[in-house]
Amino acid sequence: MRISVIGCGHVGLVVAACLAKLGNKVTAVDTDGEKVKLVNTKVSPISEPGLEEILSKVNIEATRDYSPIRDSEIIFICVPTPSTEDGSISLEYITQATKQIAAVLKEEKGYRLIVVKSTVIPGTTEEVIVPILEGLGKRAGHDFGVCMTPEFLSEGSAINDYMNPARIIIGEYDKRSGDRLSSLYQNFNAPTLRVNLKTAEMIKYVSNAFLTTKISFINEIGNICKQLGIDTYEVAKGIGLDERIGAKFLNAGIGFGGPCLPKDLKALIAKARQTGYQPRILAEVLNLNNGQALKMIDLLKKHISLKDSSVGVLGLSYKPQTDDVKDSLAITVIDTLLKERARVKAYDPWAMPNFSKLFPQIEYVTSEGVLRCDAVLVLTEWEEFEHLDYKGKVVIDGRKIAKAKEARIYEGICW
Ligand SMILES: NC(=O)c1ccc[n+]([C@@H]2O[C@H](COP(=O)([O-])OP(=O)(O)OC[C@H]3O[C@@H](n4cnc5c(N)ncnc54)[C@H](O)[C@@H]3O)[C@@H](O)[C@H]2O)c1
Repeated sequence: MRISVIGCGHVGLVVAACLAKLGNKVTAVDTDGEKVKLVNTKVSPISEPGLEEILSKVNIEATRDYSPIRDSEIIFICVPTPSTEDGSISLEYITQATKQIAAVLKEEKGYRLIVVKSTVIPGTTEEVIVPILEGLGKRAGHDFGVCMTPEFLSEGSAINDYMNPARIIIGEYDKRSGDRLSSLYQNFNAPTLRVNLKTAEMIKYVSNAFLTTKISFINEIGNICKQLGIDTYEVAKGIGLDERIGAKFLNAGIGFGGPCLPKDLKALIAKARQTGYQPRILAEVLNLNNGQALKMIDLLKKHISLKDSSVGVLGLSYKPQTDDVKDSLAITVIDTLLKERARVKAYDPWAMPNFSKLFPQIEYVTSEGVLRCDAVLVLTEWEEFEHLDYKGKVVIDGRKIAKAKEARIYEGICW
């Protein structure tokens, strides 16, 4: 099929590369000229395992210009949907992108399918996207189709997650729209659920809300276990054997960060409040998470005084196998360390270039450089941190690195 993908980010570029690999003719549009240039030279603008290898083998036409999308049968929208100041969703980028799609399709005759893949709050596709597309004289369900298909990939395993999804959710404006999208996914071996647009949008938020609840839940249990001298991870193993609970997402630690979980949870809370409902569980999941990373500072203060001490930070990306630092908990921790006048030295295998744009004032060193500091905080569970020599050090561990227990003074956040 001829496909366009709008937005060459973590989702868009993975979708574009995978669909091209499956034999589709793909055009990728992005407003960022640098990204466009890189994709056209088969270089990935993001660090995602396996992505550059696919880019080197396929032919994606990347462009800043929307006009080539006129030849596409399916157009995926994969632009950002960040938080506004009050936590609600910002539709700025998706509105812009949809207007540009509408402008190109205005003069076109054939049926096109527009697919929202960005995470959008329930009601957005029907109440915002469709009216923009119809604004230039076309009719949804007649001149064009509309679907909303949430993306569940995780950075670091994005290619495999996209190619082998646990499920495909197709939110459809009408049957014809859903049929066309289903035909694109016909060779994917995954259970498919076809629902209306709003339900598809909600499924994505509820998935993320459930995952954040699981994380804050186990962190709370971890905080209690620490007080009682019980190993949280053994408790998690014990409860995880119950299929109703499941073993995943039960790693107690500093909490959740990253480009999706915090913003999606906040957007759902804000939307619920707009309807007049006060979501108490979700609000507490967020509150608990906001305090959890700062516990690292409290624990550190038990062992050293922060002012003028050197504090080493291992891990800056929000999780391993990515260079993404969006809403990384390292931001909260390092910000507090600097306010307390500590001297911060940090190391991350991939994320130092991105993090240094946010914090140019701290020192970026090797892992050995971090270990020479007065104390060390472990914030991301990169595999290589399991092979460092922590002997003689003061280590506060937010991620349960087994080797770090060899430190002279070792304390875990929940253990
Ligand atoms: N990153 C993830 O792990 C993940 C997973 C599932 C869903 N999502 C959702 O997918 C959406 C995209 O996220 P992302 O992580 O890929 O974002 P990203 O910031 O990595 O990439 C978005 C890209 O869109 C481009 N862009 C912005 N406005 C544009 C416009 N008008 N026209 C063309 N391009 C434009 C940006 O330049 C950028 O390259 C969001 O709604 C996000 O919540 C993300």
